[in-house]
Amino acid sequence: MATQNVSAPKSAPGPKAWLPLGVLPAVRHDTLGFVRDTFRQYGDVASYWLGPIRSHLISHPDGVHQILQERVKNYTKDHISYGMVRWIIGDGLLTSQGETWLRQRRLVQPAFHRQRITALSAMMVARTEAMLDHWDGAKEYDRPRMINDEMMRLALGIVGDALFGSNVTEQATTVSRSFNLLNEQLITRFRTANLLPPLLPTRINREWWNALRELDSVVYAIISARRQHNEDSGDLLSMLMLARDAETGAQMDDQALRDEVITMLLAGHETTATALSWVWGLLSLHPEVAERLYAEVDAVLGGRLPTADDVPRLSYTRMVIDETMRLYPPVYLLSRKVVNDDEIGGYRIPKGTAVDICPYITHRHPEFWPDPERFDPERFTPEQVARRHKQAYFPFSAGPRMCIGNTFALMEAILILATVARRYRLRLASPELPPGEPLITLRPKGGMPMLVEPR
Ligand code: HEM
Repeated sequence: MATQNVSAPKSAPGPKAWLPLGVLPAVRHDTLGFVRDTFRQYGDVASYWLGPIRSHLISHPDGVHQILQERVKNYTKDHISYGMVRWIIGDGLLTSQGETWLRQRRLVQPAFHRQRITALSAMMVARTEAMLDHWDGAKEYDRPRMINDEMMRLALGIVGDALFGSNVTEQATTVSRSFNLLNEQLITRFRTANLLPPLLPTRINREWWNALRELDSVVYAIISARRQHNEDSGDLLSMLMLARDAETGAQMDDQALRDEVITMLLAGHETTATALSWVWGLLSLHPEVAERLYAEVDAVLGGRLPTADDVPRLSYTRMVIDETMRLYPPVYLLSRKVVNDDEIGGYRIPKGTAVDICPYITHRHPEFWPDPERFDPERFTPEQVARRHKQAYFPFSAGPRMCIGNTFALMEAILILATVARRYRLRLASPELPPGEPLITLRPKGGMPMLVEPR
């Protein structure tokens, strides 16, 4: 990134828009189009008024590195978007900060060690097999299935089983319905600068509270079932319930437990499921890539079910997942509040303003990604990865607040892909991919209807 006059950094250029809404109408109309156009027109650092918030879109990997790693303390989650997410998930690992965050991160980290995750591989495969048995039984091969719903149900079941020893698959419809409503309302509120908590008894707010109550009922059922058995299952829930504060000796109360459980349930299934939905869609549009993936799965497995040992050998499958998350990063936007004046790429980033970093844009930055719109898993050979700027690709974020579930998610995605590919081919029901719908994650708009064909 070309550094400008270091002694007197200037304000970043950007689209002009009138307060109080600033660029919000454009964001509301087409969020991805807005960030794409802003990057194209103004470059690596652009600024705009996002409603009442003065924000900067930082697109160069050097800037991403500065925010997420090098000067991470200067860029906090005291951003209105996290404030709003807190209305749903409270103060769990994703939204907490400072000492509370550090204590919780250390507490839950052991649940995500590679060995622990490896031990979950058989369960991940068994749950995928159960989904395929259901497809076999239904024999509805000429009717499209909503693959995004199938992946959501599967990933929710896996995360519930893995972390809480709980079978939440039966409540998958409730969780999806409630979370979809909250997700859509939250984004609409943000994009219309309706930033007040949903307190007044309006129809919309009542829908909000009902959805939240439904989600809570699932979460509190998980907690109370464990309290009744009162045993140490060695999983994340037991770790949370048995933990004692080093100074006071106090255990987490129900509210704190609820916040951690709901955070893991939501962060741990929607992201992976969305990534997998895009993988299936892209494979259908790129038969030559699909053929290579099927050939790898057949060669590595030789007809048997995959195990954790196969994961490193399924290297092309992993490259397909990486390339999919380049074009469709489930978490497409991260925002931070600026604590003290800083400078990025030669531009002034004043204290109290915000920065937006957008994997969707940086993952298409033409300096690092030739022909950026082309789907090409070859970009992720070890040689190509080693040659590239480390922060040109960050679907799991980076630095201390990087996704705690990244190893879990990658193992899960590889195992699910291989288990399905062993038995089925999936074909898009329409000639094109659905457009991306940028809610909290980047979902396929209207879902991903696909025909499933036994091999
Ligand atoms: C493909 C799948 C996934 C993607 C792309 C993804 C992406 C991310 C990203 C970008 C962040 C940073 C968010 C921020 O700074 O606001 C994050 C944080 C987090 N993720 Fe994931 N995630 C995935 C899967 C998972 C899974 C499977 C789990 C749990 C089982 C999980 C749990 C979390 C948690 C708890 C945090 C907050 C960590 C912290 O701040 O210390 N994620 N994830």
